[in-house]
Amino acid sequence: MNEENGILCPGEEKNVEKNVIEALMGDYIYKKNSWKAIEFTEECIGEIGMCLAGEKNRKVINQVTSRVKSTESICKKMRRKSYPADKAGILRCNDLLGVRTVCLFIDDVYEVAECLKKQKDIRILKEKDYIKKPKSNGYMSLHLIIEVPVGGGKENQWRKVEVQLRTVAMDFWSVLDHQLVYKKEISGAESIGKELKEYAATIAELDKNMLGLRKKIEQLNV
Ligand code: GTP
Ligand code: MG
Repeated sequence: MNEENGILCPGEEKNVEKNVIEALMGDYIYKKNSWKAIEFTEECIGEIGMCLAGEKNRKVINQVTSRVKSTESICKKMRRKSYPADKAGILRCNDLLGVRTVCLFIDDVYEVAECLKKQKDIRILKEKDYIKKPKSNGYMSLHLIIEVPVGGGKENQWRKVEVQLRTVAMDFWSVLDHQLVYKKEISGAESIGKELKEYAATIAELDKNMLGLRKKIEQLNV
């Protein structure tokens, strides 16, 4: 490790792992509060989903899934981003806790996000709209980095959660991309990347068409 900046040299993941685990044992990322933060977020999104479903008389959220980032992934990320191997470095990872919300239609994604932003007991730290501006590989999702309260009372602490909101179609692309390509080194990656990006465009078109279809049906039913 570089003594001055604490940045890791290649092959030092094992040491980071040790540091990370020590920090995990410390006062921040212990499992109880991590899961509390996730539960809080899931409940909040669940209520928003039920409320919107009641208003619209149809399902709005298809699925909500969560995860606590594994120690191994934290180490890899810190190494990739040259974060210092200490608690401050760990806290720079916005996605230690993640809640993925898969909606049926694009407008649902934005509506759920707007409702989340209006929640009084949640702080919104950051928003990345990869739907309006997809990543160069075609990835689409709306990301909110939020902070939720855990502990309660005097003990109250705030924990960061990365909320990913996307449609079923975007989720299909992203889950397959994750398995096949994302963060993998592939020979002939350029042509594969090009193909995958074309499929992302197809997905975006499909989402648009499905929304159009829903609106047509809604018009017929008024
Ligand atoms: P990570 O280090 O991957 O967490 O990325 P980041 O912290 O620089 O932030 P970014 O907004 O780029 O990505 C956050 C998360 O979005 C990732 O951890 C993935 O879950 C998801 N994601 C971002 N880009 C892609 C992508 O190209 N493909 C897939 N499948 N998922 C992606
Ligand atoms: Mg991530």
